[in-house]
Amino acid sequence: MHYTLCDLFSDLTQNAVEAGADHIAVALEETDRSITLTIRDNGRGMSPDQLAQATDPFWTDGIKHPGRKVGLGLPFLIQTAESTGGSWNIESKHTGTTGTTVTACFDLANIDTPPVGDVTGFFRHVLTFEGTYEMEIVFSAERGGKRWSETIRRSELLDALGLGEAGSFTDAGSLALLGRYLESLMEEYYG
Ligand SMILES: Nc1ncnc2c1ncn2[C@@H]1O[C@H](COP(=O)(O)OP(=O)(O)O)[C@@H](O)[C@H]1O
Ligand SMILES: [Mg+2]
Repeated sequence: MHYTLCDLFSDLTQNAVEAGADHIAVALEETDRSITLTIRDNGRGMSPDQLAQATDPFWTDGIKHPGRKVGLGLPFLIQTAESTGGSWNIESKHTGTTGTTVTACFDLANIDTPPVGDVTGFFRHVLTFEGTYEMEIVFSAERGGKRWSETIRRSELLDALGLGEAGSFTDAGSLALLGRYLESLMEEYYG
């Protein structure tokens, strides 16, 4: 399997959860020509030094993934965007609750851009990370002149499945229901 843009998007969103954010806003915007992802979190953020290290392909904190010698998420974002005519931006504050905003934009017409991959799977993956956090996903798309937009809220999905108390998707049954719901939602656009 190739590493797709959606695999990258999952890794970048996981960083927000790992940074202790309890509110994460994901916006994915797709057109025939480009795909743009913005992730805004209220996690612990990065100091300028930490940000410089985190974007260095030969550095990783050595704590989260002991034994791994290189970071995957941010270096891969930067390298892929820069080699395919895409763009990236990271804004982060180490203090307060501003957290981090990561933006990635890819040119779908560039033959070196990785395939988009499984958008529905990306949503399912990031909604089901362990932990208590609110996540709002806004998916907007424009195809053949038609605009299309959906908002997905993690808390609403958990409530609908009677998992509001548990705070996360625990059992196989609710995971399957979540998967089917997301597929039906996205079928309109991809179906
Ligand atoms: N959203 C974020 N908030 C705070 N720190 C972050 C965020 N994203 C990345 N980082 C920091 O940048 C480092 C590098 O991230 P990444 O490239 O995904 O590699 P890894 O997660 O394997 O360490 C992380 O270990 C973390 O310290
Ligand atoms: Mg990571």
